Amino acid sequence: MSGVAVRDPDLYPLARRLGLPTVAEAGMAEAGVTDAASADIAPGIAGDDDGAELTLARQDDRLVLAGDPRRYGHPLAVDFVSGRAAHRRRFGGGRGQLIARACGLAKGVTPSVVDATAGLGRDAFVLASLGAEVLLMERVAAIFALLEDGLARALADPETRDIAARMHLVHGDASRELATLVASAGVAPEVIHLDPMFPHREKSALVKKEMRLFRNLAGDDPDAPRLLEAALDVATHRVVVKRPRKAPPLEGPPPRHVIADKTSRYDLYVHRRLGA
Ligand SMILES: C[S@@+](CC[C@H](N)C(=O)[O-])C[C@H]1O[C@@H](n2cnc3c(N)ncnc32)[C@H](O)[C@@H]1O
Repeated sequence: MSGVAVRDPDLYPLARRLGLPTVAEAGMAEAGVTDAASADIAPGIAGDDDGAELTLARQDDRLVLAGDPRRYGHPLAVDFVSGRAAHRRRFGGGRGQLIARACGLAKGVTPSVVDATAGLGRDAFVLASLGAEVLLMERVAAIFALLEDGLARALADPETRDIAARMHLVHGDASRELATLVASAGVAPEVIHLDPMFPHREKSALVKKEMRLFRNLAGDDPDAPRLLEAALDVATHRVVVKRPRKAPPLEGPPPRHVIADKTSRYDLYVHRRLGA
């Protein structure tokens, strides 16, 4: 996984809150300097060889993560207001979508959902657009920061405000502290949605630069079976796991049901009927 550092001095409070190094600190760590006080007096002065491959910065009104464009393409940001998210919100297919069916959203039934692998929040946004209260958990600090920024912009826009108000975000590792994070957020874990990273062959991972950047940050989630075990303990009604169509189920108990479409699949582990 690549190092992330914060370049913009306006973002140093964010860096401190999330435990991310500034560019200067990352450069000093790379050079073997461990004295934090020295790093503090020279923030943001490091150059290209500053020890961090990716930097978190403000671009226009957005927080972005950027690396060398030849390797990583466009900077990555979370955008719930325009682009793909807006298109899916308007034309997405409502409760007929695979994710909605997997999570048990039906006529008169709208469970609350914990999305314990929030990523860029796309799945959580779809569920919240359909009326569900969603608790998003993300363990990678830089991805969490992008989500927090995307949510703040969605809350400020009249088109997405109500949806964003149903999305509650926490920073933490769900495989280690799922029950505690759920209890402190006060959202009922009726359904727990998991979409762990799937280790792709190098050839397909090279196809999209954005995917390469994201994969560099998040890694391959090798602890996904432990996350499934925690989710099965905490969910009151069901756990749903998103998988590539042909992938094996996660290690653990076999799913009770499997639903799929042309591109993806959901494995369903059911404790109890929703709405009952
Ligand atoms: C494939 S991405 C999820 C994409 C997401 N469904 C979306 O719609 O944008 C997986 C994400 O889950 C996060 N993740 C994996 N295991 C986690 C855990 N135990 N706790 C919190 N976050 C986790 C990873 O850091 C990564 O950001």
